[in-house]
Amino acid sequence: MKKIIISPSLLAADFLNLQSELEHFFPMKDIWFHLDVMDGHFVPNLTFGRPIIEKLAKISKHPLDVHLMVTNPAFYIDTLQDLHIHNLTFHYETIHHHDSTINKVKRLYPSVGVSLNPSTNIDIIPDYLLEQLDLVLLMSVNPGFGGQKFIANTYRKVEALDLRRKQLKATFQIQVDGGVDDSNANELTKRGVDNLVAGTYIFGTFPQHYSEKVESLRPLLK
Ligand code: DX5
Ligand code: ZN
Repeated sequence: MKKIIISPSLLAADFLNLQSELEHFFPMKDIWFHLDVMDGHFVPNLTFGRPIIEKLAKISKHPLDVHLMVTNPAFYIDTLQDLHIHNLTFHYETIHHHDSTINKVKRLYPSVGVSLNPSTNIDIIPDYLLEQLDLVLLMSVNPGFGGQKFIANTYRKVEALDLRRKQLKATFQIQVDGGVDDSNANELTKRGVDNLVAGTYIFGTFPQHYSEKVESLRPLLK
């Protein structure tokens, strides 16, 4: 069975103790740290930018996965380029020139992702662009806040995207973000999801339980 990556979303972590929050995950396998960058425009909320990501990058023992929820991804693509971020995802809805943005991210980062809001149809991404991507992030809540309810239509979108991936023989990962917990993780991975982002579900407990929370999202131990 393929490995499922779990991406704890630091939006739900204790911001006063980010270093120790990260350290709890260092002994675990197949973890990415998911970093939500919000600008107060594309989404109403604000989070963090380069200064905090730079500090996290210095101590992280797992790949960093940056999710840009901003109206001007070009600025962040430039300003974060030297921080050894593994995957950089931007929202398809935020730009006009998709080829050039994807190509720029590919030049500067090991992995490029594109994200779709819950109401954005997967058909908006043409085949030739899907073939160039390393990751497609399907939002399963309206972006901007942690702790929201999972939108069940995501199951259908995952199925349709997995079908297109098979037809194209494309290699992108499917990532789902928002309201992920042990009641939907198995249904998602069964349909082709490779990478699950989870904030509240993992961090809404004591650190000694993070590991069991992470493992409860992976299908092998079910
Ligand atoms: C929402 C963010 C998510 C968020 C997920 O806009 O993109 O990454 O942190 O949080 P939960 O898992 O609490 O829905
Ligand atoms: Zn996110």
